[in-house]
Amino acid sequence: MPDQCDPGSEASPAAAGGSEAAASSGSEAPGAGLTHLPNGFDYDTAFDRNIGWVSAWEQQLLRGKRVAIAGMGGVGGIHLLTLARLGIGAFHLADFDRFELVNFNRQIGATMRTLDLPKAEVIAGMARDINPELDLTAFPNGVHDADVDDFLRGVDLFVDGLDFFVLDIRRKIFARCAELGIPAITAAPLGFSTAYLVFVPGGMTFEQYFRLEGLPAERQYVNFFMGLAPQPLHRGYLVDPDRLNLNAQRGPSSFTGCALCAGVAGVEAVKLLLGRGPVRPAPWYHQFDAFEQRHVRKRLIGGNANPLQRIKLRAGYRHFAALARAASPADADVAATGSVVERILDLARWAPSGDNEQPWRFTVTGPDAVSVHIARPDPANVYEYAEGQPTILSGGMLLETLRIAASRFGRAMTWAHGGQDDAAHVIDVTFREDPQVASDPLLPFVTLRSVDRHPYRTTPLSPAQIAALEAALGDTLAVTWFHAPEQRKRLARINGMATDIRLRIPEAYAVHRRIVDWQRTRSPTGIPAGSLGLDRMTLALMRWALKDWRRIARMNRLPAATLQARQQMDYRPGAAAAAHFAISRKPGEPPPGGTVPGLLAAGMAIQRFWLTATRLGLALHPATATLCFAHYGRHGIRFTEDPARDAEAKRLAEELDRMLPDGADNVVFFGRIGAPGQRATRIRSIRRPLHSLILEARAKGLEGAASE
Ligand SMILES: Cc1cc2nc3c(=O)[nH]c(=O)nc-3n(C[C@H](O)[C@H](O)[C@H](O)COP(=O)(O)O)c2cc1C
Repeated sequence: MPDQCDPGSEASPAAAGGSEAAASSGSEAPGAGLTHLPNGFDYDTAFDRNIGWVSAWEQQLLRGKRVAIAGMGGVGGIHLLTLARLGIGAFHLADFDRFELVNFNRQIGATMRTLDLPKAEVIAGMARDINPELDLTAFPNGVHDADVDDFLRGVDLFVDGLDFFVLDIRRKIFARCAELGIPAITAAPLGFSTAYLVFVPGGMTFEQYFRLEGLPAERQYVNFFMGLAPQPLHRGYLVDPDRLNLNAQRGPSSFTGCALCAGVAGVEAVKLLLGRGPVRPAPWYHQFDAFEQRHVRKRLIGGNANPLQRIKLRAGYRHFAALARAASPADADVAATGSVVERILDLARWAPSGDNEQPWRFTVTGPDAVSVHIARPDPANVYEYAEGQPTILSGGMLLETLRIAASRFGRAMTWAHGGQDDAAHVIDVTFREDPQVASDPLLPFVTLRSVDRHPYRTTPLSPAQIAALEAALGDTLAVTWFHAPEQRKRLARINGMATDIRLRIPEAYAVHRRIVDWQRTRSPTGIPAGSLGLDRMTLALMRWALKDWRRIARMNRLPAATLQARQQMDYRPGAAAAAHFAISRKPGEPPPGGTVPGLLAAGMAIQRFWLTATRLGLALHPATATLCFAHYGRHGIRFTEDPARDAEAKRLAEELDRMLPDGADNVVFFGRIGAPGQRATRIRSIRRPLHSLILEARAKGLEGAASE
């Protein structure tokens, strides 16, 4: 049932006399001030600045119009406020929902003050604050079949503000508008764009355009989506397609999109209500995309029944069904329901590790204690130089991530290296409640940090960025920067030598076969092929070659066999960076690689460095293989059955030593850094689920508890 809203003032507009407000506004509109209310409101003054784009007469006509808006959320709320500011005098508005925190990104009425309050009531209040004289009729239970006629009674225009996925009642309202001769507008915020359609009496109807009748719900969504934007402008910048799942009724949104919708719908409303200006109703469709800076306005003859559109729709059904199948399961449950220790571990498992090995396993030993087992590296893994330095460093990065995760729960972390057995280093960790501990500023970046192997921008690091990165390393480690283009090129060439070695030796072949994930774009156990920074052709060749060592051996006999890979993985990205960096001990400090605890502490500092880079908007790409082969070359360690590669490693060590006069042996972490290039990608390594990292998971009741 509708509620007649109290306009908020007992004073009759007609009772008001001339006003100071009108006088001080300088308004010369005839009759200005006649409707002044004792509370200071005066219609003519309030909407005086519209006049010019509408005439004074038209303004009064708008004042006499009645618009129905269904939905007071993302678009509906701002539609009402926009139309109220245009001076339209009467509204029917409907919404049964209440404001929640997840509405904050886009819904104009959603604020801390309005949390849990009914949307229709809140937005009506905001509209009345703009025009206390508004004639508002609210439908606080939403619009249902039985209310449609009441909702549309006496209205001059219907504006659609319903949730995208509410199609049943939307269809009924549009159909009834057509029968009653009421024009109707729908404007959808798609990304940073608005896609909108106008339906006029006697013109093509909503159903004739979208063709929803008889389709299952998931196809109706596709028809609606693709009918709104038959030539979608917004598609190119959807950086995280996981967030769009029509089957699960899930999609990303933006306030800018909603604001654009309100802008175009407001203008269409003015034109329809005043009968002036061009209106291009369906089958014309319109999309303005602020991100792409493009506008399309075309006619889709026959709407979704258009033969070409039907072909597109069929592809759309397949595409969205595939997206739904590929969508990651909803974020589970440890985050919400696990013990504090489990929740800390669930976050900390996002620490990086060489080749995404995730060499850690956990035993929860108490309500605030855990034993971390860092697997001793496989001696057959050629990359695990200096007795598995990359693995121990990764263990340190995990420790720092545990510390940061614990800060979320007001806990301080302590750790001690508890020794090692044949299989693992054991680190005893406790999380003690501490009122002094505040959430670490790096916390939000734990899951966002991800290696980027593509070219970066060459914009130099700012002094503030350099200072923040150096501070992140703490007291014992220092960073050497290589900013100059010729230094970057030289280091890119040295990295290329490491790539040449690793693509030619059988010892690395075994590792590559195991860790490159050809199936998944988000790999929980390895590195997705698509994140390696190689073009499709080179990837296809690599995939073919990795199937059999003999293929590699044969290819390696060709001149410049690895050139293409070096170009794409080293030369181009190596030059395209703000700087390369080498992290080593500060003068006077013991070498970080000297002891396991020393290396763990170095790993902790390096994780702070990497997370700080992420916080600064910088991408980072380690080049551990270079350090690894330099180590072998410098110490004359035979690491391969191929003597030519042993010799190449020796040359690599000499070249690197020339760049690092203080001794490359002290360098624990090495790579390049810079603002990421244009391409935003969702392809990345993810992590094993928490339950698979917990030793004796069954005993701890964590079976199946967490996923990506
Ligand atoms: C100690 C260490 C060494 C690494 N070395 C390299 C490297 O030489 N080349 C590379 O492309 N990535 C390297 N990485 C990045 C890892 O492959 C990456 O962090 C891991 O696959 C997880 O992916 P994510 O960082 O996107 O979460 C290294 C990471 C760590 C922790």
